[in-house]
Amino acid sequence: MKAVLKAITPPVLVDVIRKLTPPARQTPVAPAIAAHRKAVGAGWDEIGPFQFDFLVSQGLQPEHYLLDVGCGSLRGGVHFVRYLEDGHYYGIDAQQWLLDAAREIELPQAGLADRTVHLLCRDDFDASSFGVRFDYALAQSVYSHLPWNSIYRSLVNVQKVLKPGGRFYATFFEDQGGQHKITPFHHERGGRITYPDQDPYHYEFDVFEDLARRVGLQVAYIGDWNHPRDQKMMVFRQPE
Ligand SMILES: C[S@@+](CC[C@H](N)C(=O)[O-])C[C@H]1O[C@@H](n2cnc3c(N)ncnc32)[C@H](O)[C@@H]1O
Repeated sequence: MKAVLKAITPPVLVDVIRKLTPPARQTPVAPAIAAHRKAVGAGWDEIGPFQFDFLVSQGLQPEHYLLDVGCGSLRGGVHFVRYLEDGHYYGIDAQQWLLDAAREIELPQAGLADRTVHLLCRDDFDASSFGVRFDYALAQSVYSHLPWNSIYRSLVNVQKVLKPGGRFYATFFEDQGGQHKITPFHHERGGRITYPDQDPYHYEFDVFEDLARRVGLQVAYIGDWNHPRDQKMMVFRQPE
């Protein structure tokens, strides 16, 4: 070894180092955002981990069963699938192509192709065919796109599949005026404009209190959870 080192003169060493050093990295051209990611809104890398971290902070454990309501192409789903025990993640969405993209692109890309992931395409939120009662459910950026009647339908159907004591977290754009504004509302954080009667919708929280009463759930306001687009959080609870 000593003999070898002796034989390496400085110029040779420089040459060796040059050969071993990879060429300067070129700045990669940003790839176009895939349509199935775009379709669930901006911030794939931000909103995915954000919703995951939140549910874990609320007590989600690997052994729990989770229903992802309006799961889309699994922006949050890939993180839940990785964390939960195999087969404990269930997603329901109205758009089959988003579920297909999740299964064919996102899960393999995340190294989760071998996991058991239950995905169902329905637009009425009826998850009863899964045959499972859930500890947790989540609707991230779903009620912001839905009118009152669709939210009502979703609550009726989620209530049927929540375990006693089960919790359903849902985000919404809040009309903070306190007067059921029928004018558009500009959200400082995120810059979105929301409406009382068109997508994206805003609601006063007491609308959800009324809905919860109608379907036999309890609801609590969580409010600001630092969502980058100013969506607020609430939690519905199945009575014990
Ligand atoms: C903004 S995306 C959010 C997706 C996902 N929760 C996330 O955070 O990436 C809203 C999703 O709700 C779904 N959705 C809207 N109306 C629905 C309905 N009636 N039944 C089931 N899913 C619905 C859409 O197809 C879409 O994937």
